[in-house]
Amino acid sequence: METEDFVYRRKERVALVAIVVVASLAVACLLVAFSYYCYIRNKLSKRHNPHKKDKYEEKGSFENLQVATEKGLQVFTFKQLHSATGGFSKSNVVGHGGFGSVYRGVLNDGRKVAVKFMDQAGKQGEDEFKMEVELLSRLHSPYLLALLGYCSDNNHKLLVYEFMANGGLQEHLYPINGHNDVNLRLDWETRLRIALEAAKGLEYLHEHVSPPVIHRDFKSSNILLDKNFHAKVSDFGLAKLGPDKAGGHVSTRVLGTQGYIAPEYALTGHLTTKSDVYSYGVVLLELLTGRVPVDMKRPPGEGVLVNWVLPCLTDREKVVQIMDPALESQYSMKEVIQVAAIAAMCVQPEADYRPLMADVVQSLVPLVKTHRPTSKVGSYSSFSVPRSPSQDSGRAST
Ligand SMILES: Nc1ncnc2c1ncn2[C@@H]1O[C@H](COP(=O)(O)OP(=O)(O)O)[C@@H](O)[C@H]1O
Ligand SMILES: [Mg+2]
Repeated sequence: METEDFVYRRKERVALVAIVVVASLAVACLLVAFSYYCYIRNKLSKRHNPHKKDKYEEKGSFENLQVATEKGLQVFTFKQLHSATGGFSKSNVVGHGGFGSVYRGVLNDGRKVAVKFMDQAGKQGEDEFKMEVELLSRLHSPYLLALLGYCSDNNHKLLVYEFMANGGLQEHLYPINGHNDVNLRLDWETRLRIALEAAKGLEYLHEHVSPPVIHRDFKSSNILLDKNFHAKVSDFGLAKLGPDKAGGHVSTRVLGTQGYIAPEYALTGHLTTKSDVYSYGVVLLELLTGRVPVDMKRPPGEGVLVNWVLPCLTDREKVVQIMDPALESQYSMKEVIQVAAIAAMCVQPEADYRPLMADVVQSLVPLVKTHRPTSKVGSYSSFSVPRSPSQDSGRAST
C-alpha cells in the first residue's frame, strides 16, 4: 500500500516537472517570436520612411562624418549649436557679415566658439560654405583662424570657429556705429604686430602651400584679434587656388570688397597672389591713417584712401599729416616711414612692382619687438596638385 502511494507521488512530480519545462519552452518561443516581429516591423518602417529623424537630431551623413573626422573637423548637430548659443539669442550676436550673423557660443566641453549662421540663399552661399570647409580643413597656421567644425543639414549651414575675443581689426580702427572710445584704440606697437601677423597669414597661403591660395577678400574685418590682440586671417569663402605655373593667373569673376580690389583684377578678372598684396597694402593704410578705404562723405580727393595717401607715402613731411590722430604722435617716425614705404609698394597700380608677401614679412620682422617665433609657419596637408620643382625655386609672381 505504501509502495503504491510512493509510486503515485513520483509520477505526480515527474508530470509537474514536465509541465514546467513545456510551459517555459512555450514562453521562450513566444519571446523569440515577439522579438522577431519587432525586428521585422522596425525594418519595414525604415524602408517606408528612410528620412524619419528628429529635425534637430539630423546629423551629417555617415560619409560626411567620416570625411570630416578624417580632416579633424567636428560635425555638429543643429541642436548642439542651438544650445551653445543660447538659442541664437540676440545678446550673443557679435557681428553680421556677407555670409550671415555671427554668434558667441560655449560648447559642452567649455570651449568658447564663434558660430556663423548662413542666411544667404542660393549657390553663392553654398559655394562659400564648401570652400571654407574644404580649405580650412587642410590649412593650418597660427596666423589663420581655425575652423573647429560645421553643421550642414537640409535647412541649416553653420560654421564653428575658435572665438576671437577682440573681434575684427576694423572695429578698433574706426567707429562703426558712431562711437569708438579713442582710449581703446590700438597703439603703434600693436598695429605693427598685427601687420606682421596678418602678413604671415598671407605669406603662408601664397608661399607655403601648393598650389598657392589667393584669399580674394583680404580686408581689416577679416583680420580677427584674440584676447591679447594677436591677429589671424579669416574668411576663405571667396578664396581661389592660384595658378600652378609661376607667373600665371586664374581668370575669374570679380568678387571682393570695394576699396580693397586690385585695379588689374577689377579691370580684367585676372587674379594672382599680387591681388592679395594690393588688399594687404590697403589694410596697412588703414593701420597708418585709421580711415575707411572708401568714404565718399570725406572732402573731395579724400574719398578713396589709396588715391588720397599715395602722393604722401614717400614724403616724410606729408606722412605725418595722414597719420591716425588717435595715435597722438606716439610712434617712431623711422618705423612709420618704413611701413609707409611698404604700403606704397603694395598698392602700386602695376602688379609686377608689388612685393611678395615673404618680402613684406622680411621688412616688418625687424620693426616688431615681441613677435611670435618665425619658424612657426604652420603645417599643411597637400592638395591633389603636387608642387613642381620649378615652383619651389621660383616664387609665383605676375
Ligand atoms: N571667430 C570669431 N570670433 C569673434 N568674432 C568674430 C569671429 N568671426 C567673426 N566675428 C565678428 O563678426 C563680424 C562679421 O564677420 P563676418 O561674417 O566674417 O563678416 P565680414 O568679414 O564681412 O565683416 C566680424 O567683423 C567680427 O566682429
Ligand atoms: Mg569676415
